[in-house]
Amino acid sequence: MPEPEAIMGHIGTALNTERSLAGKTIMVTAGATREPIDPVRFISNHSSGRMGVAIAEAARRRGARVILVAGHLEVPSPTGTERVDVVSTREMRDAVAASLPGADALIMAAAPADFRPKTFARRKIKKGDSGATAPTIELVQTDDILATTFGARKKGAVVVGFALETEDLLANGSAKLERKKLDFVVANSACEPGAGFRVDTNRVTIISRDGTVEELPLMPKMHVAEVVLDKVEKLLDGR
Ligand code: CTP
Repeated sequence: MPEPEAIMGHIGTALNTERSLAGKTIMVTAGATREPIDPVRFISNHSSGRMGVAIAEAARRRGARVILVAGHLEVPSPTGTERVDVVSTREMRDAVAASLPGADALIMAAAPADFRPKTFARRKIKKGDSGATAPTIELVQTDDILATTFGARKKGAVVVGFALETEDLLANGSAKLERKKLDFVVANSACEPGAGFRVDTNRVTIISRDGTVEELPLMPKMHVAEVVLDKVEKLLDGR
């Protein structure tokens, strides 16, 4: 017997008449990646995957073929999407690369870990390994996944990034728009109540390539997903 959420998902798909993304392939990344230190420990972040899952679900409702590249998720993934599970940033990079040539849009809602331990300890690091002191873990940067997609994106593809900032939201968001060659960036503050990690609501500012800045009020992530997809559709229509 499938879970009630899955049954509701199938009923929703069957009853759905909105097909505005029919024929389009939308790739969405969601959740946190994990970088192993040893067989029992890892480096990661607080991303729950809620925002990416909301976008994947909304895109499926609009009739798109949805590829959900999923890191660690704290919420169930929507029915009717093609889910590719990954652990590390490198695996997410490779999964994105594999589906990129056919993707009409790439929406990078995931929070890939930016750093990984330089070496992986094959056995559990024991408390006594460094004498009485704690071990030092040397970190190296992981790939910037969006940067690895330059030159491999489908012609006319819409690419959306997220920016979670603790300060200088507009300046940092705009810099990411340029650096990562995005059509628009969905920026939000990590320090604001009701926004960011682990909550069902978000207050975002959308910064577009044409210079427009839209400050949206606090709203459910499901509504943010609809706004993001409305913008994606508009851009796809113009290409
Ligand atoms: N991103 C990515 N590859 C990474 C890290 C982030 O593609 N290794 C994507 C995220 O999915 C998001 C966007 O880049 O869409 C911005 O992510 P963010 O963590 O805000 O920015 P960083 O590039 O990691 O910069 P910083 O940590 O310095 O703010």
